[in-house]
Amino acid sequence: MKKQKLLIVDDDEDLRTQMKWALAQDYEIVLAEDRPSAMAAMKKAQPAVITLDLGLPPVPAGVEEGFATLDEIMAENSQTKVIIITGRGEKENALRAIGKGAYDFFYKPIQLDELKVVLGRAFYVSQLEHEQRMLQKRLSGDTFEGMLGTCPKIQDIYAIIRKVSGTDAPVLIMGESGTGKELVARAMHRLSVRQAKPFIVINCGAIPENLLESELFGHEKGAFTGAHVQRKGRIEMAEGGTLFLDEIGELPMLLQVKLLRFLQEHTIERVGGREQIDVDARVVAATNRDLKEAMRGGTFREDLYFRLGVILMSLPPLREREGDVILLAKAFLERYAGENRKKIKGFTDQALDSIMQYAWQGNVRELENRVKRAVIMAEGAKILPADLDMEEVAPLPKPKYENMGLKEARECLEKEMLLKSLARNKDNLTKAATDLGVSRPTLYDMMEKFGIPKE
Ligand SMILES: Nc1ncnc2c1ncn2[C@@H]1O[C@H](COP(=O)(O)OP(=O)(O)OP(=O)(O)O)[C@@H](O)[C@H]1O
Ligand SMILES: [Mg+2]
Repeated sequence: MKKQKLLIVDDDEDLRTQMKWALAQDYEIVLAEDRPSAMAAMKKAQPAVITLDLGLPPVPAGVEEGFATLDEIMAENSQTKVIIITGRGEKENALRAIGKGAYDFFYKPIQLDELKVVLGRAFYVSQLEHEQRMLQKRLSGDTFEGMLGTCPKIQDIYAIIRKVSGTDAPVLIMGESGTGKELVARAMHRLSVRQAKPFIVINCGAIPENLLESELFGHEKGAFTGAHVQRKGRIEMAEGGTLFLDEIGELPMLLQVKLLRFLQEHTIERVGGREQIDVDARVVAATNRDLKEAMRGGTFREDLYFRLGVILMSLPPLREREGDVILLAKAFLERYAGENRKKIKGFTDQALDSIMQYAWQGNVRELENRVKRAVIMAEGAKILPADLDMEEVAPLPKPKYENMGLKEARECLEKEMLLKSLARNKDNLTKAATDLGVSRPTLYDMMEKFGIPKE
């Protein structure tokens, strides 16, 4: 592994040499003896950690030059971990330095063993902070509220999210499993004025029917056997915020009626209660079922469908997001390789081919899971199809004229058209010549050039 850089700023040459000697095994040491040389070295070497003696020339007995250097270092890169070296009994200076952004301080005379521990920790903290920043950058950088993707279909989705976040209109999100319905619902919540209030999820398909009603609407004490205390339901919990009704297609008919009432009146009644309770919650519902079909089959109420779907959003399946599959795969690889501290450089060409041609029934969730697994399984520097638990497939044909010069491409096309025309005209040369708009002699020349027999 490459050694990390440590800049030692001290005007005492003996001390510098001694420190370099003691630390060169662990770090790449850069030395400086005053403020100008320290700043030059810092700009050039970009060290993560600096040890700084406060007593620097021109006033080695004072501390002001040291502080001035600290200020400049912080102005240049405030992430740098500066360890102040100061005389014993100068605690005030040490604290003042901390106030200015120094990471730690150390008293002279230097105990090298102790200094090594402090340095090790400083480098470690610096590394952690760096990783944290990279992670944050990734999460906010090329993403829209944690969502990745740049294809036109997904850009349309971002645009809708931006528009509808500002309203309280109910939204119905449709899409195959794993297309990011919950992610979209959360994004809308975060971008709304309700963001500081709760985002409450209820999965209508995961809760047994007999419990679902009280889960949604709450119940009064004694409403049914086992209802020992009064309880608020999820709708009430979402007061001021957003209620996310997942798998709305699974909601039983009886509860569809009750939910419809809530959407119309913005009030609920707890199970076993008579009181009308006002609730202000924005409703976002999601389904991977075809609700139109459910309506035809009589298992989903039409009036509820129209109430929920004031705004209808349809998330495209992953296989329809051109170009995004690879972008997402790479982003997941980077994320999970980082989390697992594995040095993986990317995918093999075969893996990329497999990823591009796969049907992705489970959409983004499936892609994420397969990449997560591959990171754990991979033994080499690149992910193989087998690491993804995928079949190797024949590579997609390369765009034909790509990587060809103009002359070669022209000849290639000429030959192709010639062969097609001959086939079409059943090797009748006169017809083929007319077809191609050339004279018979020219046709002969072409056939000769491409080695096509004139039988
Ligand atoms: N555009 C995206 N960018 C990054 N990650 C995504 C994207 N879309 C989905 N994911 C991730 O894929 C996983 C599935 O997303 P989510 O739970 O929102 O899907 P869903 O449509 O609700 O799925 P299901 O129908 O299975 O409940 C999550 O881990 C989510 O973070
Ligand atoms: Mg979901």
